[in-house]
Amino acid sequence: MTAQIGIYGLGTMGSALALNMAEKGIQIAVANRSADAVPAFLDEASPLAQNITGHENIAALIQALPTPRLLLAMIPSTAPMDAFLDDVIGLLQPGDTVIDAGNADFHDTRARAQRLAQHDMHFVGLGVSGGEDGARHGPSMMMGGTTASWERLQPILEPIAARHQGDPCVAHLGSDGAGHFVKTVHNGIEYAEMQMIAEICELLRHGMSMPLPDVADLFGRWSQGALASYLVEITETLLRARDPATGQPMVDVILDSAGQKGTGRWTVIEAVRLGQSATMIEGAVAGRAWSAERPVRAAAEAAVGGERQPLDLSPETLEQALLAARLLGYAQGFRILDAASEEFAWRLPKPRIAEIWRAGCIIRSAMLDDISAAFRAGPPHGQLLLAPAFGPLLANAIPHLRQVVSAATAGGYAIPSLASALTWYDSMRQSRGTAAIIQGQRDIFGRHGFARIDMEGAHHGPWWDER
Ligand code: 6PG
Repeated sequence: MTAQIGIYGLGTMGSALALNMAEKGIQIAVANRSADAVPAFLDEASPLAQNITGHENIAALIQALPTPRLLLAMIPSTAPMDAFLDDVIGLLQPGDTVIDAGNADFHDTRARAQRLAQHDMHFVGLGVSGGEDGARHGPSMMMGGTTASWERLQPILEPIAARHQGDPCVAHLGSDGAGHFVKTVHNGIEYAEMQMIAEICELLRHGMSMPLPDVADLFGRWSQGALASYLVEITETLLRARDPATGQPMVDVILDSAGQKGTGRWTVIEAVRLGQSATMIEGAVAGRAWSAERPVRAAAEAAVGGERQPLDLSPETLEQALLAARLLGYAQGFRILDAASEEFAWRLPKPRIAEIWRAGCIIRSAMLDDISAAFRAGPPHGQLLLAPAFGPLLANAIPHLRQVVSAATAGGYAIPSLASALTWYDSMRQSRGTAAIIQGQRDIFGRHGFARIDMEGAHHGPWWDER
């Protein structure tokens, strides 16, 4: 047997991808840092092991691959990836491709692609979404790298990808860090969506005193309608689950302190660097950061009180509010993609990105079908919010979002992502905003100058004449 691709790193995600490939009849060679994991993996893999050869170390794995090689590393995309490249560059040949299928900072991916290019080798940043289940049975994959690498990887990635009505959810999105960047923004959108769902759950349970089983039923109904999405679906599962140890609802025994590995924060940092501001994602990152400060929150509640007012909202209003906010979250995410595409000359294909997010990934939702169609039609200024297809949805749903944000704010509920969504929408629908005040202030204290509505060039205010 001749392996078509080598996989190094048999942790949860590496094993799942390897089994997925073997199941699709792809011949693979595998190795792991600690060699003991290899026979254990082959045992677990049988009967798929007929498509897998195990190797003792990375040198043996590389030896087993035909040239030009495809070597996928499923190891942490931080320092271990650089150490891995230090080890393998001398063992590889010009034309070979190394693939990083982890959640990498795309700046690192760009630097690694440059490093390998000096040896006439390719480095691919492959964003893989869908968690362990996705990796095993069909992830959504966002590929960044050379066309030569894509041509060789396509026959391997397409069979293992999730499918939306037969269309494989994988695409070559651009050079070097494009795939990892799109995956990062995917995660940013994921953060915002998760936060908004958490905010809505809080309004339902505590604001409207809806019993937990009813909240779960509501999410069940929502996942059959316009809000259909993976995250809404798993929220229903979460809300229904009971803790085997105490019999309590699981959601009530989980500590309210969220973890984060960094991709949401990277999205926000990059957005700001690119002159954008993804405030809904920022709201979600902030929500997680504040959640980690439990002792401070407990002290503040004791000091200033944590009372909140009952809310008079209907489930339909919350459904519409979440629908509007979801669209705004995607819209913010795609704006970051636009900005990066221009900065790094990637020409990111927005319709295709929406398409490959329709199955397999964490942010998959019914709305992505309409989003890809809207981008294919070319909305004014490239903006999702201006797409004629979304006009009726926004006209109908924004008043509900406004009602939710007003009531929740007046009632004392923290809704960082929902409130950011509405404020962003309200900012963007004013042809004349508030920045004349900012420009005037800047000129008064720093002589920064401003543009005028009625004349060309840079101008200063009369305050300078008087000094
Ligand atoms: C996915 C997920 C996956 C992972 C994130 C979660 O698309 O499959 O986004 O990549 O679950 O790393 O990140 P946090 O730990 O930061 O929530």
